[in-house]
Amino acid sequence: MTNASTVVIFGASGDLTQRKLIPALYNLYVKKRLTQRFNIIGVSRTPFGHEEFRAKLRGGVQEFAKSSYDAALWDEFAAHIFYKSSNATQPEDYAGLEAVFREIEGEPANRLYYLSTAPALYVPTVTNLGAAGMTKEDIGWRRIIIEKPFGTDLASARELNTLVHSVFEENQVYRIDHYLGKETAQNILFLRFANTIFEPIWNRNYVDNVQITVAETVDVGHRAGYYDHAGVLRDMFQNHILQLLALVTLEPPASFNATALRNEKVKALSAVRPILLADTVRAQYSDYLQAKDVAPGSQTPTYAALKLYIDNWRWEGVPFFIRSGKALAAKTSQIRVRFRRPPLNMFSNMNNGSHDPNVAPNVLSICIQPNEGIHLNFEAKVPDSNRETRSVALDFNYSQSFGECEIPDAYERLILDALLGDASLFTRGDEIETLWGIVDPILHGWETPQAPPLATYARGSWGPQEAEALLARDGHKWKLGCALEDC
Ligand code: BG6
Repeated sequence: MTNASTVVIFGASGDLTQRKLIPALYNLYVKKRLTQRFNIIGVSRTPFGHEEFRAKLRGGVQEFAKSSYDAALWDEFAAHIFYKSSNATQPEDYAGLEAVFREIEGEPANRLYYLSTAPALYVPTVTNLGAAGMTKEDIGWRRIIIEKPFGTDLASARELNTLVHSVFEENQVYRIDHYLGKETAQNILFLRFANTIFEPIWNRNYVDNVQITVAETVDVGHRAGYYDHAGVLRDMFQNHILQLLALVTLEPPASFNATALRNEKVKALSAVRPILLADTVRAQYSDYLQAKDVAPGSQTPTYAALKLYIDNWRWEGVPFFIRSGKALAAKTSQIRVRFRRPPLNMFSNMNNGSHDPNVAPNVLSICIQPNEGIHLNFEAKVPDSNRETRSVALDFNYSQSFGECEIPDAYERLILDALLGDASLFTRGDEIETLWGIVDPILHGWETPQAPPLATYARGSWGPQEAEALLARDGHKWKLGCALEDC
């Protein structure tokens, strides 16, 4: 098999190429992780010359790969970048594209197609690649990375899977979810399975409840055209948040490979009990309707909170509280595992300055971002007291333990893995349908008279009162275990 490889980016004039893909590829180049013979070919409709395209991308690297930018290295790297203007919807353009790719490659090369176009172009691009024979692996491998959103509901995701599978084998397909490329998300598996002390207590016998918060300060900004059709469930829950849930709840895989890992994810996700509409909260930030490209009177939620259960031996009866929204008080993604209280209380707790006969429960907080780390809260005797306890913390911070603040961008790991043929951190076809199967009934339910009313929340708040009430019903409160400011 050939060693040369080409990354073909469809939709190359878009934002993602500039902000994420090229900075990630540049960093891989700087770290000498790309094969010696590689090319990057941008394809989209806008006409650019090679040089013009390189100049545009340089700006992105200077901004988004600031710490590794070096003019000489960039020039070396940029010599591998090319551009071809083409209309992805035109089948007759593809024979020409193949000829251009081969000319640039100059030898048999492997090829990674990166679908970073508008989702409406996924179907024609995949169809046309297939029809032009560009997915055949006779002179090198052919793989495709497909950006989110993969479908807009279960039915459309199934249709897209069927089409993709008519052209590619599943092992050629890499459905990307950048949350899986985050170091801290990957580390959930290392926390659980590279240690012996957590797994024995990682179940319904010891865990009281789990909270997942993925909060953003940004509003929908210039993306309202997309967002107003998507809403928070499609944008954040169907993919990123449910992936975090899967990593926290899956059974130990037999090995650390794509099949074993994804089998376990699918198993855990398949056990999610259908979510009651009464256990959902949907809300919109107060001035959302004024944003450009938002439909008048739009009911699109920019915030959601859910309670769900996983019906299996490990998690039966443990509530998972999940929330995410835009225009909130802080940007933070974190998972809070709250353990049960000790069965017998001999002490008294002084955590809030007053005497509480209940000992505070242990809490493990996994900080996905920012301030990446893990914190374990446990009780200690207050010195010079007779029987008072106070919560103290064991803290692991990436910045302290690994000596640097800068963690590689998720796209770096994911693009490299796709080039190496490791699909562990990508969503498999059946998995994406399982994920849609969880959110689809809520999306439909929210269109019915039984839907919870659309609440509103103030910008810069932690979301609507209704989300507090969802937890209060079970005697809980939303809590954050990770510091909010960046390291
Ligand atoms: C994207 C969503 O997938 O993830 C965005 O479309 C969201 O709306 C983003 O802002 C959040 O990613 P991160 O890495 O900033 O948490």
